[in-house]
Amino acid sequence: MSGPGTGALAGRCALITGGASGLGLAVAQAFRVEGAALVLLDLDPAAEARAQELGNAIAVKGSVTRKADIVRAYDAAEARFGPVDICVANAGVSQNAPTLSVTEEEWQRVIDINLTGTFLTAQEAGRRMIAQGGGSLLLMASMYGVVAAPERIGYCASKAAVAMMAKALSCEWARDKVRVNAIAPGYVRTALLDDLAARGRLDLDRLKARTPMGRLVEADEVARMAVFLASDASSAVTGQVMGVDGGWSAYGYV
Ligand SMILES: NC(=O)c1ccc[n+]([C@@H]2O[C@H](COP(=O)([O-])OP(=O)(O)OC[C@H]3O[C@@H](n4cnc5c(N)ncnc54)[C@H](O)[C@@H]3O)[C@@H](O)[C@H]2O)c1
Repeated sequence: MSGPGTGALAGRCALITGGASGLGLAVAQAFRVEGAALVLLDLDPAAEARAQELGNAIAVKGSVTRKADIVRAYDAAEARFGPVDICVANAGVSQNAPTLSVTEEEWQRVIDINLTGTFLTAQEAGRRMIAQGGGSLLLMASMYGVVAAPERIGYCASKAAVAMMAKALSCEWARDKVRVNAIAPGYVRTALLDDLAARGRLDLDRLKARTPMGRLVEADEVARMAVFLASDASSAVTGQVMGVDGGWSAYGYV
């Protein structure tokens, strides 16, 4: 894996959805350290300030659920920096409630953002990367797309679909030199997690105890996997779902 600041992504341009906070922002920071120019597509207007802080980065306000917004972000990226070499389809939301209380609207929201939003982002990335001769596409799945948990039906189902999407697209686009991989993080301390803990939906101490490494994952640890998958260091890696979970998904003991 590339070390920090070795210029592993020098001269590359990356488009990151949900780049205004959490894992998307951590990936953005790591990509900048490695020399990439960035485009952050996010619903949150704070993406603009984050882009200014990062430098060599622009923000586009929009939703991954709207194809026109994704196309607009790509057009802005190409106008400013040239072809987009790396796309990180990271935007996603949690859904944490007993299945019998989940309304059709709540189900549809998580499917629209996590699954359809990832599909629309991946489709536009694939279209442009194939036309320009290649690229690296990363999809943000979750360990809950690999192993199951109760009271997260839309989240687990959408993330399992995202993990399979990476495999299916990798087969379809490998000859076009587009690599497609997914990252499956464990519990990472971000706004998403803080919100669930604040609402009493998560007990962070129990989560740490359940993790073989005995701790939560740091956002930067996920970002370093993203750097590896985006860079030439992973030139023969495609169709993989890379766990960054402190051993959670491997664990099957008491
Ligand atoms: N935090 C964790 O423990 C964890 C674990 C596994 C997977 N993930 C996944 O990582 C990704 C990022 O999660 P996070 O923890 O950083 O969350 P977060 O809430 O901190 O950040 C998500 C970002 O996505 C943006 N966003 C939400 N809906 C959007 C939309 N429709 N269009 C564009 N942007 C949108 C938000 O504005 C926000 O900036 C998600 O896909 C999540 O499922 C997180």
